[in-house]
Amino acid sequence: MYLISTTSTHLAKFLPMLTLIVITGLMTACDQQIDPIKESTETNIASAARTADTNATLKSTATFPIGATPGSWISKKTKGYQMFESNFSSKTVHAYMSIESAENKFNFQEIDYWVKWAESNPIRLHGHCLVFHTGAPDWMLQYKGTTAQFEQMIKNHIQTIVSRHKGKIKSWDVYNEVFTSKGGIDQTAFRKMYSSDEDYMKFIKRCFQWAHEADPKAQLFYNDYSLENSQAKLDAVIKMVEDFKRSGVQIDGIGSQMHINLNTSEAGIRNSFLKLAATGLLVHVSELDVALNPSNDANLEINQQLLNAQRSKYQSVASLYKQIIPGRLQHGITVWDFSDADSWIVAQKKKKDAPCIFDANYNKKPAFYGILDGLKN
Ligand code: GLA
Repeated sequence: MYLISTTSTHLAKFLPMLTLIVITGLMTACDQQIDPIKESTETNIASAARTADTNATLKSTATFPIGATPGSWISKKTKGYQMFESNFSSKTVHAYMSIESAENKFNFQEIDYWVKWAESNPIRLHGHCLVFHTGAPDWMLQYKGTTAQFEQMIKNHIQTIVSRHKGKIKSWDVYNEVFTSKGGIDQTAFRKMYSSDEDYMKFIKRCFQWAHEADPKAQLFYNDYSLENSQAKLDAVIKMVEDFKRSGVQIDGIGSQMHINLNTSEAGIRNSFLKLAATGLLVHVSELDVALNPSNDANLEINQQLLNAQRSKYQSVASLYKQIIPGRLQHGITVWDFSDADSWIVAQKKKKDAPCIFDANYNKKPAFYGILDGLKN
């Protein structure tokens, strides 16, 4: 009785203030519904502040490595650099085949920058990628020698890079993108050096062996895309790695790139994580980004609703990864590119989109807080 009357006296005292707070809250909510807010620095920051603890960082929240992939230019962009340094515990270092611009002529500038940087910064370095047809220099793609000479060239490529950074770059994507999105073997220039898929597959195994010889302690990954939306491709990858394991080929993990979009189904993500974890190999979400505009609508307005949907998708990925992949198999989650200005979908493919967790000015987007929340549960 006493409690009830005290509570009602307090209520009466605070009622006007309470009403004001509720009305202001309702007005704000209505504002957002009626007037879709265009993407802007202020909006993103305000939205983030409403929804999450602004001081938490990704790496201090995560129980596994959280990676990013910016080039060394990031260190000149102060704000982006601060975001990078404070949030990430893993850095994917670009080591594309193009660093060998002519046979046995390597440019290690970018890799060396990060190897040196890591000497005074606590970060894990993951190398991407030793063999990948896309972006390989023409002299490799139109290789003039015999298949045996081609293999010698690839062996030299792999071993020169891996042995130079032995013990420093802890893990490598050895081979990138063998399969088409339908699960067949992609008939690339490298595949065409062989008369059959079987012979090509044997070459891929040798690539892993060469990398292993160059740094026996390095963790070796196979990396590919669309594993969350093509069952046929997921099965093909798993069949290949199981064959590697049976034949004693060194393979430590699978990278699932996860260039996903707002329409990517949660069931597909869950299915890929379950099947990848069942191999007993490490699982790396190696190139995560979430496109807002999969149908490539040139007039799409990037509004708050889309940014919030993107936030949910990032959150689902982080939380499913945390729940499904056993701790000992968690190589981590790496986000691809860094800001919406640098994203390959925007900068290279010239699409109207905003796939990253930082906006073009390196401010945290709702997506950043999506990952953060996903890492918590
Ligand atoms: C793929 C490759 C990466 C890169 C991205 C696009 O996912 O693995 O190396 O080319 O596409 O930036």
